[in-house]
Amino acid sequence: MASQTLTPSIFPENYRFLQQRLYAQVGIVLEDNKHYLFESRLAPIIKQLGLSSVNDLCAFLHTERNAEIDQQVGEAMTTNETYFFRDPAQYEAIRTVLFPKLMEERRDTKSIRFWSAASSTGQEAYSLAMLLLQEGLGSWNIQILGTDFSSTVVNRARSGIYQQIEVNRGLPTSLLVKHFCRSGMEWKLDDTVRRMARFETIDLRNSMRTLGPFDLVFCRNVMIYFDDKTKRNIMKELHSTLFRGGWLLLGGAESVFGLDEWFERRSVGNTTIYIAR
Ligand SMILES: C[S@@+](CC[C@H](N)C(=O)[O-])C[C@H]1O[C@@H](n2cnc3c(N)ncnc32)[C@H](O)[C@@H]1O
Repeated sequence: MASQTLTPSIFPENYRFLQQRLYAQVGIVLEDNKHYLFESRLAPIIKQLGLSSVNDLCAFLHTERNAEIDQQVGEAMTTNETYFFRDPAQYEAIRTVLFPKLMEERRDTKSIRFWSAASSTGQEAYSLAMLLLQEGLGSWNIQILGTDFSSTVVNRARSGIYQQIEVNRGLPTSLLVKHFCRSGMEWKLDDTVRRMARFETIDLRNSMRTLGPFDLVFCRNVMIYFDDKTKRNIMKELHSTLFRGGWLLLGGAESVFGLDEWFERRSVGNTTIYIAR
């Protein structure tokens, strides 16, 4: 295939088409001035199809019915950034307040269920798993569910394989040495931790009632992409998946208004938790 230069300008009608498509497909609201995001993230798909511009891709999407390309376009527009033990104050709150509470309340069943909603490549779910082991809960019946819209990141999470740059972010060396082994340029998570979490492809805008009940739900750094209506619907669904008294954790910089009906907001150490009413 001849090398092609990408034309930088997206026609206004195509920009609106992509915005509306992204909103319908993933729920993400992209502002009017993010041309570079469409240009850069869709470039690999444009190249793969032998096209030369975002405008060409829009014409393709208008005329062809190709479920795989549709999915690829949606996934390409999601931001998947994540890292181990992101927002340490939350893990500290879990370790010092939630774990002791659950150890007391669940001493008979010894069973705990956590959900990493919008889990991306799995670091959030595996950080929880390592924390549980570190705190002596390894013999308990632990279920950690990780879910994401993107099947690409779900498959990566399942593999438990991380690049050097990923294990350099947030993961203490002691845990790297304890739970990972080096394989060429990559690091492979041991089966003990990997088996504590399972991953599925789930759109957060769908009904989630049947997934619960959970003791803790992480829904971090994803609400920022949604509009108020979508956020509210998701919050209501998340509430329905939590045990009464269960914890919801949002991203460090995220806040959602009008949650009092479903959650009590509480400060623990340097973080804020939402307790299901
Ligand atoms: C920035 S990452 C956050 C990962 C992790 N929760 C963290 O805080 O480190 C956001 C994730 O949300 C996922 N996402 C976006 N829209 C979604 C939707 N409608 N349903 C489920 N996941 C979605 C993306 O695929 C992406 O992996």
